[in-house]
Amino acid sequence: MGIKIIGTGSYTPERVLTNLDLEKMVDTNDEWISTRTGIKERRIADENTATSDLASRACIEALKSANITAEDIDLIIVGTATADKAFPSTACLTQAKIGAKNAVCFDLSAACSGFLYSLEVAESMLAAKPQYKRALVIGAEKFSSLVNWKDRNTCILFGDGAGVVVIEKTDGETSSILASHMGSNGDHEKLLQVPGGGTALPITKENFDEGHQYVTMEGQEVFKKAVTAMVTSCKKVMEESGITADQIKWLIPHQANYRILKAVASRLKISEDNVFMNLDKFGNTSAASIGLAVDEMNKTGSVSEGDYVLLTAFGGGLTWGATLLRW
Ligand code: UT7
Repeated sequence: MGIKIIGTGSYTPERVLTNLDLEKMVDTNDEWISTRTGIKERRIADENTATSDLASRACIEALKSANITAEDIDLIIVGTATADKAFPSTACLTQAKIGAKNAVCFDLSAACSGFLYSLEVAESMLAAKPQYKRALVIGAEKFSSLVNWKDRNTCILFGDGAGVVVIEKTDGETSSILASHMGSNGDHEKLLQVPGGGTALPITKENFDEGHQYVTMEGQEVFKKAVTAMVTSCKKVMEESGITADQIKWLIPHQANYRILKAVASRLKISEDNVFMNLDKFGNTSAASIGLAVDEMNKTGSVSEGDYVLLTAFGGGLTWGATLLRW
């Protein structure tokens, strides 16, 4: 049995928020944002758009690219930190919007690592049970809903979007997913979190006024831990599959900061020319970022059959991981 990626899709909202726009909102400037992060602009969803709207538009594109219908899907997993509601899951709401009436649906919470974790779970479920043949693996975020637009430390970083891959179980021996490694460490919850809005700190008027509904991050500490963790996971999957740095066509790291992406590539001895970056256009879209990049790589014809593509992510939790694909 093998697992193949048979389609990709993505969606980003139309509204573009540039660094120049942000200059008018907080004490920042294009030069600082560009040199410290590599981000030039990001997409922001309007108030009537929920995460499932972003996800379903991306799914419709992915189904078209796979040349199948929504009813052919047995499993929908949405990696997200910005669910539409506490419940039903964003996956169920996406299912209804696209008409995937035969699918089992659930969300997965692993912050910016949500897409890779979802891929890991979907692959395992397809491998384990005959009733799961095709899955939509989705990273979708309306991350702007968690951003304090008065906090220059965070509001310049994030954007909204959704990326999807369709995976299918095949009779063949070859698999698109060669190896994967995931990790978590709950000891560092406070480095990157949204403290309020759950059961630990419900949103009362007082907590709301304190701003506990917004994302907070200790940027430098997260930066260091992100580089170390992504490099460790990438090395593990490269070793396990016997693939060397010079064989990697694309390294697609979670699009958080171009300095992080370069540091990871350099430690893995992967040339910067082989690092896929689109954070200049979309910023950090959390769980959506890898799916967005994979779809862009696919749609622009930047990848050929048989190419090795190394995905790696890091996010709140802490969570991290790497997955090696043969396209
Ligand atoms: O998605 C999950 C994973 N997330 C990440 O991996 C993000 C990791 N962290 C980062 O990417 C970087 O740490 C940031 C981009 C968040 C920050 O960059 P930095 O180089 O670590 O800057 P810093 O936080 O050390 O701040 C340097 C200075 C400070 O001023 P002082 O104290 O040196 O006077 C900040 O107050 O830059 C100031 N600063 C800003 N200045 C202009 C912070 N934000 C801004 C801003 N515009 N937006």
